[in-house]
Amino acid sequence: MTPMDMLLSRASVDTLIEPAPSADQLSEVLAAAMRAPDHGKLRPWRYILIEGDARPLAAERVIASMLRLDANAPEFKLNKRRQRFSTMPLVIALGMHLRPDHKIPLWEQEMAVAAATMNVLNALHAKGFGGIWVSGDITEDPVLAAELGLPAPHKLAGFLFVGTPAQQCEPPRRPDPAQFTASWTGSPVSFSADKE
Ligand SMILES: Cc1cc2nc3c(=O)[nH]c(=O)nc-3n(C[C@H](O)[C@H](O)[C@H](O)COP(=O)(O)O)c2cc1C
Repeated sequence: MTPMDMLLSRASVDTLIEPAPSADQLSEVLAAAMRAPDHGKLRPWRYILIEGDARPLAAERVIASMLRLDANAPEFKLNKRRQRFSTMPLVIALGMHLRPDHKIPLWEQEMAVAAATMNVLNALHAKGFGGIWVSGDITEDPVLAAELGLPAPHKLAGFLFVGTPAQQCEPPRRPDPAQFTASWTGSPVSFSADKE
């Protein structure tokens, strides 16, 4: 695969089986994260690895978070989250080590974490693994974040489920980039993606 083929064939995968990347493979994947653009070299990304027997423990913290946010959360939702967090080959909690008083604005710090996450997803794909970035209300729960090692002002940016794709999937249809591109020549642009 050429680098372009690799970029253009990546798709999120949420049906994941063992194996997860080995320690060496993961280290290489995370090295890609360190290549993300990062204004001020703040390195705001943090990766919390949840593997093996730690997964059901994390799942219970996630369930507690869901119930904190909604005491009436339906059982099927709790069960789905419990099952996914307990059985994904590897869960990576995405941390944002934020510096609210720094001259680099928070939104730029958060974007650097997002850019690094995209590199992680691409690197996983390049090595034959799959992953999906998930979030939900729990991502904004400061108690859960602190339990994982991200006390305020630090935050979660979500979770990556990581493993080996269970099957070869039909690549999803992608939009035409022309719909999201416009040349500015002096007047405000508009995009065909925004036209009804
Ligand atoms: C910050 C962020 C949070 C996301 N949270 C969820 C989520 O909780 N559940 C979900 O199904 N997809 C979520 N997604 C979308 C998936 O990660 C993925 O992009 C989507 O399934 C489409 O697949 P694709 O990456 O191949 O286009 C999230 C994406 C981002 C960037």
